[in-house]
Amino acid sequence: MNAQIQSVLRQVRTEFGTPSYVYFLDRMLSNIARVRDAFDGRFGISYAVKSNPNRELLKRFSSHVDTLDVSSGGELQRALDAGHPADRVTFSGPAKSREELELAVRVGCGEMVVESPNELDMLNELASASGVTMPIFLRINPATAPRHFGVNMAGKPSQFGIDEEDMPTVLGQLDTWPNLALRGFHIYSGTNCLNAEALAENFSIFIDLFTRFSEAADIHPHKLIFGSGFGIPYHDGDDTLDLAQVARLINPLIDDMRRNDRLADAKCMLEMGRYLIGPEGYLVSSVIAQKRSRGKNIRLLDTGFNGHLAAWGMMGTIIRRNWPIWNIDGDMNAARETYMLTGPLCTTIDTLADDLELPKLSRGDAIAIGSSGAYGMSSSPIRFISQPIPREVLVTVDGLNVQCVDVTEPMRDVWMHETQHV
Ligand SMILES: Cc1ncc(COP(=O)(O)O)c(C=O)c1O
Repeated sequence: MNAQIQSVLRQVRTEFGTPSYVYFLDRMLSNIARVRDAFDGRFGISYAVKSNPNRELLKRFSSHVDTLDVSSGGELQRALDAGHPADRVTFSGPAKSREELELAVRVGCGEMVVESPNELDMLNELASASGVTMPIFLRINPATAPRHFGVNMAGKPSQFGIDEEDMPTVLGQLDTWPNLALRGFHIYSGTNCLNAEALAENFSIFIDLFTRFSEAADIHPHKLIFGSGFGIPYHDGDDTLDLAQVARLINPLIDDMRRNDRLADAKCMLEMGRYLIGPEGYLVSSVIAQKRSRGKNIRLLDTGFNGHLAAWGMMGTIIRRNWPIWNIDGDMNAARETYMLTGPLCTTIDTLADDLELPKLSRGDAIAIGSSGAYGMSSSPIRFISQPIPREVLVTVDGLNVQCVDVTEPMRDVWMHETQHV
Protein backbone atom coordinates (compact mmCIF):
# COMPACT_ATOMS: atom_id res chain seq x y z
CA MET A 1 0.00 0.00 0.00
CA ASN A 2 1.44 3.38 -0.90
CA ALA A 3 1.93 6.04 1.77
CA GLN A 4 -0.73 8.40 0.40
CA ILE A 5 -3.42 5.72 0.43
CA GLN A 6 -2.44 4.72 3.95
CA SER A 7 -2.62 8.32 5.11
CA VAL A 8 -6.08 8.84 3.51
CA LEU A 9 -7.39 5.64 5.11
CA ARG A 10 -6.19 6.87 8.49
CA GLN A 11 -7.84 10.23 7.87
CA VAL A 12 -11.14 8.50 7.01
CA ARG A 13 -10.93 6.42 10.17
CA THR A 14 -10.46 9.56 12.25
CA GLU A 15 -13.10 11.67 10.47
CA PHE A 16 -15.81 9.10 9.87
CA GLY A 17 -15.06 6.17 12.15
CA THR A 18 -15.17 2.50 11.24
CA PRO A 19 -16.23 0.29 9.62
CA SER A 20 -15.99 2.41 6.47
CA TYR A 21 -15.68 1.60 2.81
CA VAL A 22 -13.33 4.01 1.08
CA TYR A 23 -13.50 4.55 -2.68
CA PHE A 24 -10.70 6.33 -4.54
CA LEU A 25 -12.64 8.01 -7.34
CA ASP A 26 -9.75 9.32 -9.45
CA ARG A 27 -8.14 5.92 -9.61
CA MET A 28 -11.45 4.38 -10.70
CA LEU A 29 -11.87 6.99 -13.44
CA SER A 30 -8.33 6.47 -14.61
CA ASN A 31 -8.98 2.72 -14.90
CA ILE A 32 -11.94 3.49 -17.16
CA ALA A 33 -9.70 5.67 -19.32
CA ARG A 34 -6.92 3.05 -19.30
CA VAL A 35 -9.29 0.35 -20.59
CA ARG A 36 -10.59 2.67 -23.32
CA ASP A 37 -7.04 3.52 -24.37
CA ALA A 38 -5.88 -0.10 -24.40
CA PHE A 39 -8.49 -0.98 -27.03
CA ASP A 40 -7.95 2.23 -28.94
CA GLY A 41 -11.61 3.09 -29.54
CA ARG A 42 -12.73 -0.42 -30.44
CA PHE A 43 -14.92 -0.71 -27.35
CA GLY A 44 -17.25 1.51 -25.41
CA ILE A 45 -17.60 0.87 -21.68
CA SER A 46 -20.71 -0.28 -19.88
CA TYR A 47 -20.41 -0.10 -16.11
CA ALA A 48 -22.08 -3.01 -14.31
CA VAL A 49 -23.99 -1.25 -11.54
CA LYS A 50 -24.23 -4.46 -9.52
CA SER A 51 -20.52 -4.24 -8.78
CA ASN A 52 -21.09 -1.08 -6.74
CA PRO A 53 -24.43 0.72 -6.95
CA ASN A 54 -23.61 3.69 -4.73
CA ARG A 55 -25.50 6.63 -6.27
CA GLU A 56 -22.67 9.10 -5.84
CA LEU A 57 -20.35 6.77 -7.74
CA LEU A 58 -22.96 6.37 -10.49
CA LYS A 59 -23.26 10.14 -10.70
CA ARG A 60 -19.50 10.52 -11.05
CA PHE A 61 -19.20 7.66 -13.57
CA SER A 62 -22.13 8.73 -15.74
CA SER A 63 -20.21 10.94 -18.16
CA HIS A 64 -17.17 8.62 -18.25
CA VAL A 65 -18.96 5.49 -19.42
CA ASP A 66 -21.20 4.86 -22.41
CA THR A 67 -23.90 2.96 -20.57
CA LEU A 68 -24.83 1.80 -17.11
CA ASP A 69 -25.86 -1.84 -17.02
CA VAL A 70 -28.53 -2.44 -14.40
CA SER A 71 -29.98 -5.75 -13.25
CA SER A 72 -33.08 -4.75 -11.28
CA GLY A 73 -35.73 -2.10 -11.04
CA GLY A 74 -33.85 -0.78 -8.01
CA GLU A 75 -30.65 -0.38 -9.99
CA LEU A 76 -32.54 1.25 -12.84
CA GLN A 77 -34.04 3.70 -10.36
CA ARG A 78 -30.57 4.38 -8.95
CA ALA A 79 -29.17 5.11 -12.40
CA LEU A 80 -32.01 7.58 -13.01
CA ASP A 81 -31.60 9.14 -9.55
CA ALA A 82 -27.94 9.67 -10.40
CA GLY A 83 -29.05 11.74 -13.39
CA HIS A 84 -28.05 9.13 -15.93
CA PRO A 85 -30.29 9.19 -19.02
CA ALA A 86 -32.58 6.17 -19.43
CA ASP A 87 -31.62 5.80 -23.07
CA ARG A 88 -28.05 5.04 -21.98
CA VAL A 89 -29.08 2.21 -19.66
CA THR A 90 -28.93 -1.50 -20.49
CA PHE A 91 -31.14 -3.71 -18.38
CA SER A 92 -29.98 -7.32 -17.98
CA GLY A 93 -31.10 -9.92 -15.43
CA PRO A 94 -32.55 -13.40 -15.74
CA ALA A 95 -35.89 -12.90 -13.97
CA LYS A 96 -37.17 -9.39 -14.44
CA SER A 97 -40.59 -8.97 -12.89
CA ARG A 98 -43.56 -7.39 -14.63
CA GLU A 99 -43.16 -4.31 -12.41
CA GLU A 100 -39.52 -3.99 -13.39
CA LEU A 101 -40.34 -4.31 -17.08
CA GLU A 102 -43.15 -1.78 -16.70
CA LEU A 103 -40.73 0.67 -15.12
CA ALA A 104 -38.27 0.09 -17.97
CA VAL A 105 -40.94 0.74 -20.60
CA ARG A 106 -42.29 3.78 -18.73
CA VAL A 107 -38.91 5.50 -18.41
CA GLY A 108 -37.74 4.50 -21.90
CA CYS A 109 -34.85 2.24 -20.95
CA GLY A 110 -32.56 2.33 -23.97
CA GLU A 111 -31.47 -1.27 -24.22
CA MET A 112 -33.30 -4.24 -22.77
CA VAL A 113 -31.18 -7.37 -22.53
CA VAL A 114 -33.77 -10.10 -22.82
CA GLU A 115 -32.94 -13.46 -21.34
CA SER A 116 -35.87 -15.77 -22.12
CA PRO A 117 -38.90 -16.26 -24.42
CA ASN A 118 -41.18 -15.55 -21.43
CA GLU A 119 -39.53 -12.20 -21.00
CA LEU A 120 -39.93 -11.49 -24.72
CA ASP A 121 -43.66 -12.17 -24.38
CA MET A 122 -44.08 -9.98 -21.31
CA LEU A 123 -41.98 -7.09 -22.60
CA ASN A 124 -43.75 -7.16 -25.97
CA GLU A 125 -47.13 -7.05 -24.26
CA LEU A 126 -46.12 -4.08 -22.08
CA ALA A 127 -44.53 -2.23 -24.99
CA SER A 128 -47.62 -2.81 -27.10
CA ALA A 129 -49.91 -1.56 -24.30
CA SER A 130 -47.83 1.63 -24.14
CA GLY A 131 -47.69 1.99 -27.91
CA VAL A 132 -43.89 1.89 -28.06
CA THR A 133 -41.23 -0.29 -29.60
CA MET A 134 -38.51 -1.36 -27.18
CA PRO A 135 -34.94 -1.87 -28.42
CA ILE A 136 -33.74 -5.29 -27.30
CA PHE A 137 -30.60 -7.40 -27.18
CA LEU A 138 -30.82 -11.15 -26.88
CA ARG A 139 -28.54 -12.62 -24.27
CA ILE A 140 -26.93 -15.78 -25.60
CA ASN A 141 -25.81 -18.53 -23.26
CA PRO A 142 -22.86 -20.11 -25.10
CA ALA A 143 -22.27 -23.84 -25.18
CA THR A 144 -18.62 -23.39 -24.26
CA ALA A 145 -16.27 -21.12 -22.36
CA PRO A 146 -12.53 -21.53 -21.84
CA ARG A 147 -11.03 -22.51 -18.48
CA HIS A 148 -9.55 -19.93 -16.10
CA PHE A 149 -12.77 -18.06 -15.24
CA GLY A 150 -13.69 -17.65 -11.56
CA VAL A 151 -17.31 -18.49 -12.34
CA ASN A 152 -18.30 -20.02 -15.65
CA MET A 153 -21.93 -19.92 -16.73
CA ALA A 154 -21.57 -21.50 -20.19
CA GLY A 155 -22.20 -25.03 -21.38
CA LYS A 156 -24.49 -26.07 -18.55
CA PRO A 157 -28.10 -25.60 -17.57
CA SER A 158 -28.36 -21.96 -16.61
CA GLN A 159 -30.94 -19.32 -15.81
CA PHE A 160 -28.90 -16.81 -17.81
CA GLY A 161 -29.75 -15.98 -21.38
CA ILE A 162 -31.01 -18.19 -24.17
CA ASP A 163 -29.02 -21.34 -24.86
CA GLU A 164 -26.99 -21.09 -28.04
CA GLU A 165 -28.77 -24.24 -29.26
CA ASP A 166 -32.20 -22.57 -28.88
CA MET A 167 -31.29 -19.29 -30.53
CA PRO A 168 -32.31 -20.32 -34.09
CA THR A 169 -35.81 -21.17 -32.87
CA VAL A 170 -36.19 -17.89 -30.99
CA LEU A 171 -34.85 -15.88 -33.94
CA GLY A 172 -37.31 -17.69 -36.21
CA GLN A 173 -40.17 -16.37 -34.05
CA LEU A 174 -39.14 -12.71 -33.94
CA ASP A 175 -42.31 -11.69 -35.77
CA THR A 176 -44.26 -12.84 -32.71
CA TRP A 177 -42.93 -9.82 -30.82
CA PRO A 178 -43.71 -6.86 -33.12
CA ASN A 179 -43.12 -4.25 -30.40
CA LEU A 180 -39.54 -5.38 -29.83
CA ALA A 181 -36.72 -4.32 -32.16
CA LEU A 182 -33.67 -6.57 -32.12
CA ARG A 183 -30.63 -4.29 -32.00
CA GLY A 184 -27.93 -6.82 -31.23
CA PHE A 185 -26.67 -9.47 -28.84
CA HIS A 186 -25.21 -9.80 -25.39
CA ILE A 187 -23.05 -12.47 -23.81
CA TYR A 188 -21.70 -12.70 -20.31
CA SER A 189 -20.46 -16.20 -19.63
CA GLY A 190 -17.70 -15.96 -17.03
CA THR A 191 -16.24 -13.73 -14.34
CA ASN A 192 -12.95 -12.82 -12.81
CA CYS A 193 -10.48 -14.20 -15.32
CA LEU A 194 -6.81 -13.26 -14.99
CA ASN A 195 -5.62 -15.06 -18.10
CA ALA A 196 -5.30 -12.98 -21.28
CA GLU A 197 -5.39 -15.96 -23.63
CA ALA A 198 -8.58 -17.30 -22.05
CA LEU A 199 -10.27 -13.89 -22.35
CA ALA A 200 -9.31 -13.67 -26.03
CA GLU A 201 -10.50 -17.21 -26.65
CA ASN A 202 -13.81 -16.31 -25.01
CA PHE A 203 -14.16 -13.19 -27.15
CA SER A 204 -13.60 -15.24 -30.28
CA ILE A 205 -16.44 -17.54 -29.17
CA PHE A 206 -18.60 -14.42 -28.70
CA ILE A 207 -17.71 -13.10 -32.15
CA ASP A 208 -18.54 -16.41 -33.76
CA LEU A 209 -21.97 -16.44 -32.07
CA PHE A 210 -22.63 -12.77 -32.79
CA THR A 211 -21.81 -13.37 -36.45
CA ARG A 212 -23.91 -16.52 -36.82
CA PHE A 213 -26.95 -15.08 -35.11
CA SER A 214 -26.77 -11.71 -36.88
CA GLU A 215 -26.90 -13.69 -40.11
CA ALA A 216 -29.71 -15.91 -38.86
CA ALA A 217 -31.77 -12.87 -37.83
CA ASP A 218 -30.71 -11.00 -40.96
CA ILE A 219 -29.75 -7.88 -39.02
CA HIS A 220 -26.83 -5.50 -39.05
CA PRO A 221 -26.50 -5.25 -35.27
CA HIS A 222 -26.23 -1.74 -33.79
CA LYS A 223 -24.35 -3.02 -30.81
CA LEU A 224 -22.66 -6.14 -29.49
CA ILE A 225 -22.16 -6.43 -25.75
CA PHE A 226 -19.12 -8.38 -24.57
CA GLY A 227 -19.49 -9.34 -20.91
CA SER A 228 -15.83 -8.98 -20.33
CA GLY A 229 -14.97 -11.11 -17.28
CA PHE A 230 -11.72 -9.18 -16.67
CA GLY A 231 -10.46 -10.21 -13.23
CA ILE A 232 -8.45 -8.70 -10.40
CA PRO A 233 -6.10 -10.39 -7.92
CA TYR A 234 -7.59 -11.21 -4.52
CA HIS A 235 -5.03 -13.56 -3.02
CA ASP A 236 -1.29 -14.02 -2.70
CA GLY A 237 0.00 -15.63 -5.84
CA ASP A 238 -2.82 -14.31 -8.08
CA ASP A 239 -1.48 -12.67 -11.23
CA THR A 240 -2.47 -9.20 -12.29
CA LEU A 241 -4.26 -9.22 -15.62
CA ASP A 242 -1.93 -7.94 -18.34
CA LEU A 243 -4.26 -5.44 -20.03
CA ALA A 244 -1.82 -4.65 -22.83
CA GLN A 245 -1.59 -8.35 -23.64
CA VAL A 246 -5.40 -8.70 -23.52
CA ALA A 247 -5.71 -5.83 -25.99
CA ARG A 248 -2.95 -7.24 -28.23
CA LEU A 249 -4.91 -10.49 -28.49
CA ILE A 250 -8.43 -9.06 -28.74
CA ASN A 251 -7.93 -6.03 -31.01
CA PRO A 252 -7.15 -8.11 -34.12
CA LEU A 253 -10.23 -10.25 -33.45
CA ILE A 254 -12.41 -7.14 -33.53
CA ASP A 255 -10.67 -5.78 -36.61
CA ASP A 256 -11.22 -9.09 -38.32
CA MET A 257 -14.89 -9.15 -37.30
CA ARG A 258 -15.37 -5.70 -38.82
CA ARG A 259 -14.28 -6.97 -42.22
CA ASN A 260 -17.67 -8.65 -42.33
CA ASP A 261 -20.04 -5.99 -43.76
CA ARG A 262 -22.84 -7.17 -41.54
CA LEU A 263 -20.88 -6.41 -38.38
CA ALA A 264 -18.77 -3.54 -39.65
CA ASP A 265 -20.77 -0.79 -37.94
CA ALA A 266 -21.75 -2.54 -34.74
CA LYS A 267 -20.63 -0.68 -31.65
CA CYS A 268 -18.78 -3.08 -29.37
CA MET A 269 -19.16 -2.68 -25.63
CA LEU A 270 -17.21 -4.06 -22.69
CA GLU A 271 -19.61 -4.71 -19.84
CA MET A 272 -17.62 -4.78 -16.64
CA GLY A 273 -17.42 -3.72 -13.02
CA ARG A 274 -14.78 -5.28 -10.84
CA TYR A 275 -11.80 -4.56 -13.09
CA LEU A 276 -12.60 -0.83 -13.13
CA ILE A 277 -13.28 -0.27 -9.47
CA GLY A 278 -12.40 -3.34 -7.38
CA PRO A 279 -8.75 -2.52 -6.70
CA GLU A 280 -9.54 1.09 -5.76
CA GLY A 281 -11.70 0.41 -2.73
CA TYR A 282 -10.86 -0.57 0.87
CA LEU A 283 -12.87 -1.54 3.90
CA VAL A 284 -11.39 0.01 7.02
CA SER A 285 -12.21 -1.75 10.27
CA SER A 286 -10.98 -1.30 13.85
CA VAL A 287 -9.71 -3.89 16.28
CA ILE A 288 -12.09 -3.79 19.20
CA ALA A 289 -10.62 -6.62 21.24
CA GLN A 290 -7.57 -8.85 21.34
CA LYS A 291 -7.03 -12.21 22.93
CA ARG A 292 -5.01 -15.40 22.78
CA SER A 293 -6.81 -18.66 22.43
CA ARG A 294 -5.07 -22.03 22.31
CA GLY A 295 -1.99 -20.61 20.71
CA LYS A 296 -3.71 -18.24 18.26
CA ASN A 297 -3.30 -14.51 18.42
CA ILE A 298 -6.84 -13.30 17.74
CA ARG A 299 -7.91 -9.77 16.85
CA LEU A 300 -11.63 -9.06 16.83
CA LEU A 301 -12.87 -6.47 14.37
CA ASP A 302 -15.85 -4.12 14.36
CA THR A 303 -17.30 -5.72 11.24
CA GLY A 304 -17.79 -9.31 10.18
CA PHE A 305 -19.05 -10.94 7.05
CA ASN A 306 -22.18 -8.85 7.52
CA GLY A 307 -20.08 -5.96 6.15
CA HIS A 308 -18.07 -7.80 3.49
CA LEU A 309 -19.21 -11.27 2.55
CA ALA A 310 -16.68 -11.70 -0.27
CA ALA A 311 -13.58 -10.87 1.80
CA TRP A 312 -14.72 -13.42 4.36
CA GLY A 313 -14.61 -16.00 1.54
CA MET A 314 -18.32 -16.60 1.29
CA MET A 315 -19.13 -15.34 -2.18
CA GLY A 316 -18.48 -18.01 -4.77
CA THR A 317 -15.33 -19.40 -3.16
CA ILE A 318 -15.00 -22.94 -1.91
CA ILE A 319 -11.94 -22.49 0.28
CA ARG A 320 -11.48 -19.25 2.21
CA ARG A 321 -8.12 -17.61 1.57
CA ASN A 322 -6.76 -14.41 3.06
CA TRP A 323 -7.45 -11.23 1.13
CA PRO A 324 -4.96 -8.34 0.95
CA ILE A 325 -5.02 -6.80 4.43
CA TRP A 326 -2.88 -4.07 5.99
CA ASN A 327 -2.47 -2.70 9.49
CA ILE A 328 -2.87 0.99 8.62
CA ASP A 329 -1.56 2.06 12.02
CA GLY A 330 1.38 -0.29 12.00
CA ASP A 331 4.96 0.65 11.41
CA MET A 332 5.50 -1.18 8.13
CA ASN A 333 9.09 -1.90 9.20
CA ALA A 334 8.14 -3.36 12.58
CA ALA A 335 8.50 -7.06 13.26
CA ARG A 336 5.53 -8.99 11.98
CA GLU A 337 3.34 -11.23 14.03
CA THR A 338 0.85 -13.87 13.00
CA TYR A 339 -2.85 -13.23 13.56
CA MET A 340 -6.27 -14.68 13.19
CA LEU A 341 -8.80 -11.93 12.38
CA THR A 342 -12.43 -12.44 13.26
CA GLY A 343 -15.58 -10.32 13.24
CA PRO A 344 -18.10 -9.62 15.99
CA LEU A 345 -20.77 -12.08 14.82
CA CYS A 346 -21.91 -14.97 16.98
CA THR A 347 -20.87 -17.68 14.56
CA THR A 348 -17.65 -19.59 14.04
CA ILE A 349 -17.69 -18.85 10.33
CA ASP A 350 -17.00 -15.18 10.99
CA THR A 351 -13.27 -15.46 10.23
CA LEU A 352 -11.66 -12.96 7.89
CA ALA A 353 -8.08 -14.22 7.96
CA ASP A 354 -5.92 -16.87 9.53
CA ASP A 355 -2.15 -17.19 9.84
CA LEU A 356 -1.92 -13.65 8.54
CA GLU A 357 1.35 -11.81 9.11
CA LEU A 358 1.04 -8.14 9.91
CA PRO A 359 3.09 -5.53 11.75
CA LYS A 360 2.05 -5.65 15.42
CA LEU A 361 -1.72 -5.14 15.58
CA SER A 362 -3.31 -4.01 18.85
CA ARG A 363 -6.69 -3.05 20.18
CA GLY A 364 -7.60 0.38 18.77
CA ASP A 365 -5.58 -0.10 15.58
CA ALA A 366 -7.33 -0.30 12.21
CA ILE A 367 -6.90 -2.62 9.30
CA ALA A 368 -7.77 -2.08 5.64
CA ILE A 369 -9.04 -4.84 3.38
CA GLY A 370 -8.05 -4.21 -0.23
CA SER A 371 -9.75 -5.20 -3.52
CA SER A 372 -13.00 -4.00 -1.94
CA GLY A 373 -14.29 -1.43 -4.42
CA ALA A 374 -16.58 -3.97 -6.12
CA TYR A 375 -18.98 -6.50 -4.58
CA GLY A 376 -18.36 -5.15 -1.08
CA MET A 377 -21.19 -3.73 0.91
CA SER A 378 -24.01 -4.26 -1.58
CA SER A 379 -23.17 -7.97 -1.78
CA SER A 380 -23.22 -8.45 1.99
CA PRO A 381 -25.92 -9.44 4.49
CA ILE A 382 -25.82 -6.08 6.25
CA ARG A 383 -28.82 -6.74 8.48
CA PHE A 384 -27.27 -9.82 10.07
CA ILE A 385 -27.15 -9.51 13.88
CA SER A 386 -27.98 -5.81 13.52
CA GLN A 387 -24.36 -4.83 13.57
CA PRO A 388 -23.49 -1.30 12.41
CA ILE A 389 -23.64 -0.90 8.66
CA PRO A 390 -20.37 0.35 7.14
CA ARG A 391 -20.17 3.93 5.98
CA GLU A 392 -19.12 4.72 2.44
CA VAL A 393 -16.61 7.48 1.81
CA LEU A 394 -15.62 8.87 -1.56
CA VAL A 395 -12.09 10.24 -1.88
CA THR A 396 -10.90 12.64 -4.53
CA VAL A 397 -7.26 13.63 -4.74
CA ASP A 398 -6.05 16.77 -6.48
CA GLY A 399 -2.30 17.04 -5.96
CA LEU A 400 -1.87 17.37 -2.21
CA ASN A 401 -5.51 18.29 -1.71
CA VAL A 402 -7.50 15.27 -0.51
CA GLN A 403 -11.26 15.45 -0.16
CA CYS A 404 -13.19 12.77 1.71
CA VAL A 405 -16.98 12.88 1.41
CA ASP A 406 -19.46 10.69 3.25
CA VAL A 407 -21.63 9.06 0.56
CA THR A 408 -23.38 6.57 2.83
CA GLU A 409 -26.90 5.84 1.66
CA PRO A 410 -29.98 5.46 3.84
CA MET A 411 -30.90 1.84 4.51
CA ARG A 412 -34.50 2.03 3.42
CA ASP A 413 -34.11 3.03 -0.16
CA VAL A 414 -34.22 -0.22 -2.07
CA TRP A 415 -36.77 -0.22 -4.85
CA MET A 416 -39.86 -2.12 -3.84
CA HIS A 417 -42.74 -3.43 -5.80
CA GLU A 418 -45.66 -1.07 -5.64
CA THR A 419 -47.87 -3.68 -4.04
CA GLN A 420 -45.40 -4.68 -1.41
CA HIS A 421 -44.17 -1.91 0.77
CA VAL A 422 -44.59 0.55 3.62
C1 LIG B 1 -24.52 -9.84 -16.82
C2 LIG B 1 -23.34 -9.35 -16.06
N1 LIG B 1 -22.69 -8.25 -16.51
C3 LIG B 1 -21.62 -7.75 -15.87
C4 LIG B 1 -21.16 -8.33 -14.71
C5 LIG B 1 -19.97 -7.69 -14.03
O1 LIG B 1 -18.91 -8.54 -13.85
P1 LIG B 1 -17.52 -8.02 -13.31
O2 LIG B 1 -17.82 -7.10 -12.18
O3 LIG B 1 -16.81 -9.23 -12.89
O4 LIG B 1 -16.85 -7.28 -14.43
C6 LIG B 1 -21.79 -9.47 -14.19
C7 LIG B 1 -21.31 -10.11 -12.97
O5 LIG B 1 -21.71 -11.13 -12.53
C8 LIG B 1 -22.91 -9.99 -14.89
O6 LIG B 1 -23.57 -11.07 -14.43
